[in-house]
Amino acid sequence: MNDLLEENQRLRGERDLLRRKLAEVEENFLRTVQESQQEILVINEALAQANSQLQELDRMKDAFLSMVTHELRTPLTAISGITEMLETGIYGELTREQAEHISQIATQATRLRQLVNDLLDLSKMEAGMMKLRREMFDPRSLVEAVIEQLTTLAQRSSVLLRNHVLQDLPEAYCDGRRIEQVLTNLVTNAIKFTPPGGQVIITGESRVLTEGVKIFLCVADTGQGIPPEALPRIFDKFFQVQSSTETRTKGTGLGLAIVKHIVELHGGEVSVESQLGKGSRFFFSLRTTDCGLRIADCGFDNERSS
Ligand SMILES: Nc1ncnc2c1ncn2[C@@H]1O[C@H](COP(=O)(O)OP(=O)(O)OP(=O)(O)O)[C@@H](O)[C@H]1O
Ligand SMILES: [Mg+2]
Repeated sequence: MNDLLEENQRLRGERDLLRRKLAEVEENFLRTVQESQQEILVINEALAQANSQLQELDRMKDAFLSMVTHELRTPLTAISGITEMLETGIYGELTREQAEHISQIATQATRLRQLVNDLLDLSKMEAGMMKLRREMFDPRSLVEAVIEQLTTLAQRSSVLLRNHVLQDLPEAYCDGRRIEQVLTNLVTNAIKFTPPGGQVIITGESRVLTEGVKIFLCVADTGQGIPPEALPRIFDKFFQVQSSTETRTKGTGLGLAIVKHIVELHGGEVSVESQLGKGSRFFFSLRTTDCGLRIADCGFDNERSS
């Protein structure tokens, strides 16, 4: 009997000890959880702060870029205007040397204005502030208008420029001015990267897909082509393929980034195929109706710089 009582006593003692240990573990556990929660709160707060600082920096960058480009356009327009007047000889006849220098000023001012316009367009698109003015357009006439503008450039580079877009295609529902900008960038590239004697051909067709009828346009050239490792980055802004023969390619690397933004804003897609030394083909698609487009994209915007 005594043994039993002793055993009982011992077991009670053990149980109390275990209870105390359990309470201790529980307390430690709760403290650790509380401390971790506290740490998580501090980390979260720091993250939120960093995030809002990043957003603020991004907003400041956009505002700065936009302000700078606007501020640059005004003096550039003045420079171009005065240069044009000088070229006409209105302020007196120019010597051959003076005329050459003035023509250089005009060329550089045009390049700078194009760069400023590209930067402004990109910053607007990245901020989601570019609005499209969509109407129905015949794809072949859009291509025709671009070819007309770029014929002199092609002739100067001895590159043949052809419009092989099928006639009687369904009309594309798009902002004609913006799609002309897309075509201008693609065709200018095609001419720029094609050696004399080469060809640039624009083709276009329609396809019936489950989501509706779509127009597919393609700008193909017989130029230098793009190395396979450069293809994934080709639509990134400021990306240019380093050429081993040329020290530096003319341009800034903004054209294709703008192309991608504009096409995607229209609900279309861009893609590229290329073979080194053989040529490149840039494709993009356009819708023929407004179905599936975001209402917010259907605003108006007449601000494209000239
Ligand atoms: N048709 C093409 N053939 C070969 N390379 C091309 C072609 N189109 C684009 N590229 C390559 O992709 C790069 C990026 O093209 P993108 O139009 O964005 O810039 P860019 O023409 O160099 O300058 P920008 O268009 O701003 O004047 C080019 O620098 C060139 O290396
Ligand atoms: Mg370009």
